[in-house]
Amino acid sequence: MPVKKADSESLRNRIIGLGEKSIHKSYYPELQNRLAELERFRSMLDQSSDIIFLLNFPDLLIYDVTTPVVTHLGWTQEELVGSSFLNILDEETSQCFQKKMDTAWHDRQEREVFTALIRGKIPMEFVCSPVVFEGNRFLIIVGQEISQRLAAEQQIRRQLFQLDTLHHIDNLITANLSLSDLLTGVLSEVRMALRANAAAIYIFDSPTKMKRIAWSADEIGVDGDTILLTTRHLPTLEYGEQILLNGNDGYDEAYSMILQRIQQYGFCAYGAEPLSTRGQIKGILEVYFRSPQEFNDDWKTLLTRVSAQVTVAVEKSQMFKHLEQAYADLNQAYDETLEGWAAALDLREKETANHSQKVVEMTIRLAHAAGIRADDLIHVRRGAFLHDIGKIAVPDSILLKPGPLSEDEWVIMRQHPVYAYQMLSKINYLKPAIEIPYCHHEKWDGSGYPQGLAGDAIPLAARVFAVVDVWQALTSDRVYRRAWPESNARKYIIDHSGTHFDPKIVEAFLKLVIADVK
Ligand code: C2E
Ligand code: SIN
Ligand code: SIN
Ligand code: FE
Ligand code: FE
Repeated sequence: MPVKKADSESLRNRIIGLGEKSIHKSYYPELQNRLAELERFRSMLDQSSDIIFLLNFPDLLIYDVTTPVVTHLGWTQEELVGSSFLNILDEETSQCFQKKMDTAWHDRQEREVFTALIRGKIPMEFVCSPVVFEGNRFLIIVGQEISQRLAAEQQIRRQLFQLDTLHHIDNLITANLSLSDLLTGVLSEVRMALRANAAAIYIFDSPTKMKRIAWSADEIGVDGDTILLTTRHLPTLEYGEQILLNGNDGYDEAYSMILQRIQQYGFCAYGAEPLSTRGQIKGILEVYFRSPQEFNDDWKTLLTRVSAQVTVAVEKSQMFKHLEQAYADLNQAYDETLEGWAAALDLREKETANHSQKVVEMTIRLAHAAGIRADDLIHVRRGAFLHDIGKIAVPDSILLKPGPLSEDEWVIMRQHPVYAYQMLSKINYLKPAIEIPYCHHEKWDGSGYPQGLAGDAIPLAARVFAVVDVWQALTSDRVYRRAWPESNARKYIIDHSGTHFDPKIVEAFLKLVIADVK
């Protein structure tokens, strides 16, 4: 919803009127002070296209409002002027507003920012500034509608929630699945149950080839045959049929290849049964013996039962395998989503399209050199992509302002790491990536924001990223200034080593990332 330019004339006249009254009663130096204050207020009005309330303090009665308050919020001037500002806030907000204003008054320079839902449906952000005219205390409250911003935040929260769900699947898989461990474990059970010296599971890889997917033997070093066999070397089995071979005696031609194969590894007896689901043969279970066997009926029944269990385990492991693949695909899709947000943020700040990508690559190289473990680099990567995600909560009027920021605007801008923390800390999947978005504006000497951390207390990943961020900021065009030449940016980084930046990181950065810049 566009905000109309304020018709601030009447408000200004009334304030000036207030100032003029004081001329009759005041001494000249005091008047100078007051006029300076008046000027400050007037220039604020001139700049603003926002909703502005002027309140008496401490009773919080509305002294005046700008026209957009009337056009935008739908109250008349008469309804508002003289009534309590608390009436337009919901009860909860109005209580904490009162407390905040009392605190704010202790330091007149301080600005307070709060949000409220006006008329139960219009989300607004208010910046409150205390001022004094002629010994009378006032609050100036500048409001801005933030429904678009909230909608964008909500959409990102929804997507973040999906990421979190994904994270749970990840845990499930890593807890339950080491595919080959699972089946090897099953086979060692099989060996014990059937008193066999070795066991193998083969699965059809193609109509004429089978692949061994698990193997277990009672002697270390016995590895059986090659992983891939053609059906010539394996029995052809019908559903429910077993093949039992004991020594060399009296078997038909078809089994000679199998016998040759097992004898090669020192086995003399052999049993096999198909692994089948829904009447379809998927593979076989084989057991091997170093001594001759009887294969009585009890043993044959046991083989059948064991085969059924092995079939279940194989199916389960294959399901996991699909899940694992699906997870890898989804994971990639979600990382692409993150990169999409980063690109969207870049576009909003009028960065070039591959800007984030370049920053991320630089960060990873430097992080690796700084000794961050390979396992953690994925989090560093995500953190770097998301480093300024908190800027979605910064209004365009501030983010895209062509000139320097005012104090009030800085208050909001410095919140962007905090917004990032609020968004990302709720997401397990992105929690390990939070250090960069939250801490990238901390400075080595403790003069940064939002926490004012110093030295090693700043997470390593954030110290690494800070150098890259400032380098790329200085060497890019910004709405508020043109790009610096690379040599100037290099000098800036060196000059601020030990104050803004971790000196060790600066050293690595100069050597590794911008060695060719003089
Ligand atoms: P950004 O533009 O991505 O800048 C990141 C950081 O690079 C800044 O953090 C600062 O440490 C460094 N940097 C960038 N440009 C300059 C510069 O011209 N001079 C110096 N000395 N350092 C520079 P910082 O200062 O905390 O600012 C955070 C964000 O606030 C900036 O991100 C930008 O979005 C915004 N911002 C800062 N200054 C202005 C400004 O004058 N006008 C507007 N519209 N936005 C500003
Ligand atoms: C800063 O370095 O603190 C601000 C940079 C700027 O305003 O350009
Ligand atoms: C990380 O950011 O993932 C590691 C940070 C550290 O090693 O301090
Ligand atoms: Fe930032
Ligand atoms: Fe940035």
